[in-house]
Amino acid sequence: MRRLSELDVPVVVHPDPDRPPTRAELLAGVSGAAGVIALLTERVDEELLVAAGDQLRVVANVAVGFDNVDVAAAGRRGVVVTNTPDVLDEATADLAFGLLLAVSRRVVEADRFLRSGAPWSWAPTLFTGLDVSAGATLGIVGLGRIGMAVARRARAFRMRVLATGRRAHGAEAAALGVQPSTLDELLERGDVVSLHCPLTPQTRHLIDERALARMKPTAILVNTARGPVVDEAALVAALRDGVIAGAGLDVFENEPEVHPGLLGLDNVVLVPHIGSAGLATRDAMGLLAIDNVAAVLAGRPPLTPVTG
Ligand code: DGY
Repeated sequence: MRRLSELDVPVVVHPDPDRPPTRAELLAGVSGAAGVIALLTERVDEELLVAAGDQLRVVANVAVGFDNVDVAAAGRRGVVVTNTPDVLDEATADLAFGLLLAVSRRVVEADRFLRSGAPWSWAPTLFTGLDVSAGATLGIVGLGRIGMAVARRARAFRMRVLATGRRAHGAEAAALGVQPSTLDELLERGDVVSLHCPLTPQTRHLIDERALARMKPTAILVNTARGPVVDEAALVAALRDGVIAGAGLDVFENEPEVHPGLLGLDNVVLVPHIGSAGLATRDAMGLLAIDNVAAVLAGRPPLTPVTG
């Protein structure tokens, strides 16, 4: 708020930080604005751009993903769109790895068991799971900045890493021992498959019934990217029927709704889209969005523009 107040423009702030604005509040709130700072919960489309008016010059999305923004429509109206890359890579990779470990070693399931008061004693087979550090194979779908941060963690855990994406063929990936792979090969070989691709028309339902069937019955799926990359109904069936062993999910197909089939399953760990929710990370995302707005309003190039 201090950084916002330093901008030499009047600032209108949605009054309730704990709930997104309703569509009506949003459309009214952006009217007459030169810059809009949006969260991923806001749909920034033609209707919103028109409601803002012709003076609108920049939409700064406080997220690295920008599938909530119609970038082409903004471009047609001469509106710059920015996102918040880099600053959230480590926090998001931490959560992806946290989910990987939690599901592999059944931490949440074991916690629930203990809290239930059920009798127990140490036993050789009690909550056995995947040995991550014994050479397990991690498949990274979409080796971008966050995927690379996950690969660094995997290397420390002595995992074999396969990855799809242009950067999988680069020097940084090679230095981490990452093996470039096709999606099918990665699905077939991965003990854990972690998704780090953006949501685009090409990646919607990339992980569908067919893809899940290619995975090992002992494999784990981790999604900290975007919910619709996975066909959630197919995932529920795969988890229920033993097609794969488990999943760690930070994102959901119809947020904030969670498929009811997931809620009843023990082999899935669910968290509410908190990948970047480190305190310092969230500050950095907010400040970067403000700096992007300030730059465009001052006639300077934005720091982190996105193109459609
Ligand atoms: C993003 O930045 O796209 C995350 O989903 C939220 O931080």
